[in-house]
Amino acid sequence: MKVTIFGTGYVGLVTGACLAEMGNHVVCVDIDAGKVERLKRGEVPIYEPGLESIVQSNHASGRLDFTTEAAPAIAHGELIFIAVGTPPDEDGSADLQYVQKVAATIGRHLERYAVVVNKSTVPMGTADRVREAIAAELAARRATVEFDVVSNPEFLKEGAAVEDCLRPDRIVVGASSTRAVALLRKLYAPFNRNHDRMVVMDERSAELTKYAANAMLATKISFMNEIANIAERVGADVELVRQGIGSDPRIGYSFIYPGAGYGGSCFPKDVQALERTAHAHGYEARLLGAVEAVNRQQKGKLFELISRHFDGQLAGRTIALWGLAFKPNTDDMREASSRRLMEQLWEAGAKVRAFDPEARDEARRLYGERADLVLCEHAMDAVQGADVLAVVTEWKTFRSPDFAAIRAALAVPAIFDGRNLYDPAVVEEAGLAYYGIGRGRSL
Ligand code: UGA
Repeated sequence: MKVTIFGTGYVGLVTGACLAEMGNHVVCVDIDAGKVERLKRGEVPIYEPGLESIVQSNHASGRLDFTTEAAPAIAHGELIFIAVGTPPDEDGSADLQYVQKVAATIGRHLERYAVVVNKSTVPMGTADRVREAIAAELAARRATVEFDVVSNPEFLKEGAAVEDCLRPDRIVVGASSTRAVALLRKLYAPFNRNHDRMVVMDERSAELTKYAANAMLATKISFMNEIANIAERVGADVELVRQGIGSDPRIGYSFIYPGAGYGGSCFPKDVQALERTAHAHGYEARLLGAVEAVNRQQKGKLFELISRHFDGQLAGRTIALWGLAFKPNTDDMREASSRRLMEQLWEAGAKVRAFDPEARDEARRLYGERADLVLCEHAMDAVQGADVLAVVTEWKTFRSPDFAAIRAALAVPAIFDGRNLYDPAVVEEAGLAYYGIGRGRSL
């Protein structure tokens, strides 16, 4: 099928490459000419396992192209995806100006029936607003062209986005037109594998499904962080509690890992946006507010532990920090817990020696050259000459370090394990003090 995608960010690029991989002819549009040129050369601006190779191979085979020209791209697509950003505005609501601009552009150039597919995470009712924006442009040029707007939210996880896109566990389609549903069924047929994964519903339910999924996941994390905070006060180990409750299939083992808080471009933004939407409709979403508040507090947890260890005297100290990205397998530092920790440490007069397998360039871009941040090439370089070590992201390479070497390198042998990666007994046996999240001994 012929597909057009507006926006070559995370969602747009992964979706475009995966649809091309499935045999469709995909044109991706972006207003950033430099980015389009780089993509044409096969340079992928984000670190995402497997993405670069499918971008390159599908571009080479002619099934995936990139352009800044909206009009020919709109003429190309029988399905036109909107996958541009919806950043939070000042009050936390999703800012729809980019979605609206694309909708207007589609209205200005559309010449024949197409299905406009909303992939961006957008508040309930946006499909209607996109429909209105397109219709207004068509009316302005006195054109009568049929079109449908559907909501088809994505559920990609950074670091596993290609896999999630090629093998989705569900495909949510919000549509009110059978013609549009039929086209999406055709597009997604190869993704269905053994059974039909498409869940068809109305547009608003599809839009809310996206927020509900992220809010539920964020709730699980904040809930476990709250249990961790109780555990350390009552002398229990949250890791044992986690195993104890996860065995109940109604609760499940996944997404109940306590830690230094959730980050990324989705959870913080989407929980806030849902809360704002509820508020705008006269409902106070107290649970969502609490999920956010617990997370905000949790992001300060490592600093609190480190500061207490040094009796609040952090000036002149050097902290080794492993993990800058908001989670493993990405170089994304948006809302990362590492940022809050570094900023708090700097404010208290401490220096940071940081290592991350992928996010060092991103850290350089965000913070520039500064005397109190050294970005190290290897994990063990970060530890050399530092007082203590804080582990913020659960990269696999951090899972079984040489504790004896860490002990020898640190001036004050202590590990602050922000993701509960280590067995406290093993760390302590190596002669290091151990601080985890909710493990009975931190307070
Ligand atoms: C999230 C959702 O998982 C995707 O399903 C969704 O499509 C995506 O948002 C989106 O809206 O686009 P992502 O932001 O890539 O994906 O990251 P997650 O893997 O969900 O992790 C988010 C944060 O939660 C990370 O900081 C991670 O460290 C933290 N986390 C996760 C925990 O603290 N504990 C857990 O048990 C799991």
